[in-house]
Amino acid sequence: MKNLFVDQTVSQIGEEVRLYGWVGTIRDHKKIVFIDLRDRTGIVQVVGGEEFKVLSTEDVVYIKGLVKKRPEKLVNPKLKTGTIEVEAKELKIISKALPLPIPVQGDGYDIDEERRLKYRYLDIRRPRMTRNLILKSKSTMFIRNYLAELGFLEIETPILTKTTPEGARDFLVPSRLQKGNFYALPQSPQQYKQLLMVAGIERYFQIARCFRDEDPRRDRAYGEFTQLDLEMSFVEQNDIITLAEDLFTSLVKEIFPEKHISQTPWPRLSHKYVMEKYGTDKPDLRKNKADPNELSFSWTIDFPLFSEQSEKDFFYGSGKAKFAPSHHMFTAPHPDDVLLLDKNPLKVRGLQHDMVLNGYEVGGGSIRIHQPEIQKKVFDLIGFNEEQKKQFSHMLEAFGYGVPPHGGIAPGIDRFLFTVLGEPSIREVMAFPASSGGKISVMEAPSPASDGQLKELGIKINS
Ligand code: AMO
Repeated sequence: MKNLFVDQTVSQIGEEVRLYGWVGTIRDHKKIVFIDLRDRTGIVQVVGGEEFKVLSTEDVVYIKGLVKKRPEKLVNPKLKTGTIEVEAKELKIISKALPLPIPVQGDGYDIDEERRLKYRYLDIRRPRMTRNLILKSKSTMFIRNYLAELGFLEIETPILTKTTPEGARDFLVPSRLQKGNFYALPQSPQQYKQLLMVAGIERYFQIARCFRDEDPRRDRAYGEFTQLDLEMSFVEQNDIITLAEDLFTSLVKEIFPEKHISQTPWPRLSHKYVMEKYGTDKPDLRKNKADPNELSFSWTIDFPLFSEQSEKDFFYGSGKAKFAPSHHMFTAPHPDDVLLLDKNPLKVRGLQHDMVLNGYEVGGGSIRIHQPEIQKKVFDLIGFNEEQKKQFSHMLEAFGYGVPPHGGIAPGIDRFLFTVLGEPSIREVMAFPASSGGKISVMEAPSPASDGQLKELGIKINS
């Protein structure tokens, strides 16, 4: 007899089973006591005797029992295990639970979010949150299998690294061995994946953690989030778009069968068109916004390569140069517009492609510059000084040793799921997200460093 998840009991009528889980609701009928035994797969009704009277909700228990078919009139059609119940033969209390600081029944939307985040390990017990994490795990597993089948290699890249600007502030980590120097946590693996193309990998992906110090929003996590980061060599924009479209269409069919995609192939719309028609580069093309199962994907292409630089572009030319990259500084200009780089940079289109779903930008990517002289020109146009150019000289050097034309995309896994599930905030699909103040409440991070640690790092705090 092996341990079963509670949802497996349904096929075990007449069998003795061993179950572990948490005590959900308790219904005391004097001589018999009913409990809902819960694990991550759901709940099953267990019938016990007077020995069950000592139980409190959320105790962790072991139960050995006989699976019995319920009489027709007691079947609960709302439960996966509603056709059976388990008659307990043995009960062991493995650990007792104090009264919980937050309820774990219900959807939890009405509970103060800070409190939910402080007790996230309890919050995740609620079936909605467990479901979200299960769907995230299934989605990344699906992506891995799909891409492996197509010959992609999954390769890890450093977390302690140098700045990779994607438009946000960097997180810096002081180096102990090289006092006064800092690692930056990557805003994305952008440069590494391009270097992997120079290395001859041809098809790379990574379920990559990205770090950005930027204000949180409904669809934007503070601090860190996860991308499917992907890069290919010897491809054109159409190859990348088609691959991502096929991948996500198959994923939706497999993992979210109740959802329907309203238009296939996904419409490919120019930036100019969507800005004129919808006033946004991420239009919501759903036919019926009241339908929670409608998914309306589209591509926005032909973005201008540059926008006019402003103070918010602090990284590029400190907001003092004329142009900032619309996407990032490695995006290639449209081949028909290369001559315009000298004459009228704002008129140059970039080979950028944004993946849009129900009004959210769920992915972004591009064909990259692989000619050192064009990359240098872009550095000049965005106002890089000599110091900044030096920071990226490894890219130019690498491009000197035989570089394939390449491009890629990075759909945000959290943002994709948040959109598909129609959750009110992206944090609902993340296990331990930071709160809006940048705090990881469960652990009370960030926290002060000790004097000894600071001394070792050569850091003095001015307060
Ligand atoms: P970009 O910066 O457009 O591109 O990011 C790609 C996708 O990542 C997701 N995303 C986020 N998700 C949650 N919280 C955030 N703070 C957040 N920021 C971004 C979005 C977005 O579409 N290196 C390039 C990709 C490439 O060119 O291949 C990049 O990171 O879903």
